[in-house]
Amino acid sequence: MKELLELITDEMKSAFSAAGIDDKYARVTLSNRPDLCEYQCNGAMPAAKEYHKAPLEIAEAVTEKLQDSNILSEAVAIKPGFINLKLQDAYLADYVNAMSLDRERFGYEKVENPKTIMIDYGGPNVAKPLHVGHLRSAVIGESIKRILSFAGNEVIGDIHLGDWGTQMGLIITELNERKPELCYFDEDYRGEYPAEAPFTISELEEIYPTASRKSKEDEEYHQRALKATAELQSGRKGYRALLDHILNVSVTDLKKNYERLNVSFELWKGESDAQPYIAPMVDMMKKKGLAYESEGALVVDVQEETDKKEMPPCMILKSDGAALYNTTDLATLVWRMNDYHPDSVMYVVDKRQELHFVQCFRCARKTGIVGPDTDLEFIGFGTMNGHDGKPFKTREGGVMRLSSLLDEVDEKMYEKISANKDLSEEEARDTARKVALAAVKYGDLSNQASKDYIFDVDSFTAFEGNTGPYILYTIVRIKSILKKYSDAGKSCLTANIPEAKSLSGKNLMQVLAKFNAAMKEAADEKAPQKVAAYTYELADAFNHFYHETKILTMEDAELQAGYIKLLDLTRGVLSCCINLLGFEAPERM
Ligand code: ARG
Repeated sequence: MKELLELITDEMKSAFSAAGIDDKYARVTLSNRPDLCEYQCNGAMPAAKEYHKAPLEIAEAVTEKLQDSNILSEAVAIKPGFINLKLQDAYLADYVNAMSLDRERFGYEKVENPKTIMIDYGGPNVAKPLHVGHLRSAVIGESIKRILSFAGNEVIGDIHLGDWGTQMGLIITELNERKPELCYFDEDYRGEYPAEAPFTISELEEIYPTASRKSKEDEEYHQRALKATAELQSGRKGYRALLDHILNVSVTDLKKNYERLNVSFELWKGESDAQPYIAPMVDMMKKKGLAYESEGALVVDVQEETDKKEMPPCMILKSDGAALYNTTDLATLVWRMNDYHPDSVMYVVDKRQELHFVQCFRCARKTGIVGPDTDLEFIGFGTMNGHDGKPFKTREGGVMRLSSLLDEVDEKMYEKISANKDLSEEEARDTARKVALAAVKYGDLSNQASKDYIFDVDSFTAFEGNTGPYILYTIVRIKSILKKYSDAGKSCLTANIPEAKSLSGKNLMQVLAKFNAAMKEAADEKAPQKVAAYTYELADAFNHFYHETKILTMEDAELQAGYIKLLDLTRGVLSCCINLLGFEAPERM
């Protein structure tokens, strides 16, 4: 469906033309004085300059042409030349009735030219527990993915596991210390490697920090870890087999964690998948004369003339020949371009990594890995802080595991929810998990992604105000009204949403009618925050309307059915929005 503002603008365009004024001045916006009008057009002022007339004269000439409008109930010119507009109630009702016929998209049209978009988010490091720093990437990335795919694009999410750095060498070194007899360390071993990993996930999670601590304290150990990393990267078989075990064990655990977050990936590729592309890529860069040796390392210059600050060169290989974070990101672009020819590759990563991406993007363009038809986009997010304004930590000051954080919010929510004695223990637990996830995700997504924010459990879990639980509560409330209505043996199937009879009713319908505009804006700006803001506006508009309109006790059956239909549409739109944000509503709470 065409956006409502566009339809009103079209109407204004005809009026401007009929009044002999160029219709480029006909743009309509939402009113910034809702007490005076619903929409406004300020085009008479700039038009006055072109036509050498008084703005009010133009505004009056235009409004005169609108007196028989089928869309507007009011069009008034006021000094110095504003045009104030009100929409006809019947027209608005027709618009939302048309929306309600489209049960899935509510009139939101798919983009004309769908794109293939790869989105790189999540980015956990294997063998290290997920910590709160990975939360934002997962939550924001998942929502952007859903928003862009709802807009009609083909979107492929890739988790891009961190599985190719020194951390792998560290784990191998520590395993070697503990179990030197394992066949993985025997260079002469020619047999098959065991199918079973020689460690569990909890051992693995302990091995990494131990190894990391030892390597900081002990230079000889550190050197061994570097050597193990280099040997792994150059293909030592036993180490490759260990890497596969580490990956399997980690990925099984990661999948559980992401499932809990309602986050899923189309691709579970990692840095290690880029490995086969590294050598040919480096060759290509050398052949083109773009990669050169500097202090032993191989680098590509990425400074541009317009740079105000110095831009360090992009390092491709360390002096010992080992690959770096840049290398795997560039080689990953090689296979992404080969296999998917994306129109766009987006990275949802901590904004402190921006320089890394600027260097990689420039290097990828300069060396021709990525051509002009593909956009590369860095969507950097801010830090999730504690009350002290510093990155979120445990009470003891350590890095907070993501699962502990979620457990804490679940528990808090359970306490609140179990106060409702109607729910069984099982339903209360399940509901608490759903509401807790909404609290955490909405708390994040209602902020602009690029900004830092304070993770405040108390305010995020509140049932009132701009929170996830408030949105869910609104949906649950509507569901319960709809259930009471149908339990009474009634149906609104053939009903029509009636013309608004109150300001709050008209406001609710107007907010509903903005749905497609809001979703389009969110997709254009890749901004889940816009979906969150719209969701809140709609929940609020509904609650005001419902507060004033006692629907269930209404005598007029036709009017009641029409209102129930309006509620059903509101529920549908709200559910669609929270799905785009990545959480769901319980049946009761
Ligand atoms: N593993 C990285 C980290 O924990 C994030 C990866 C982001 N994606 C990428 N393509 N570099 O910092």
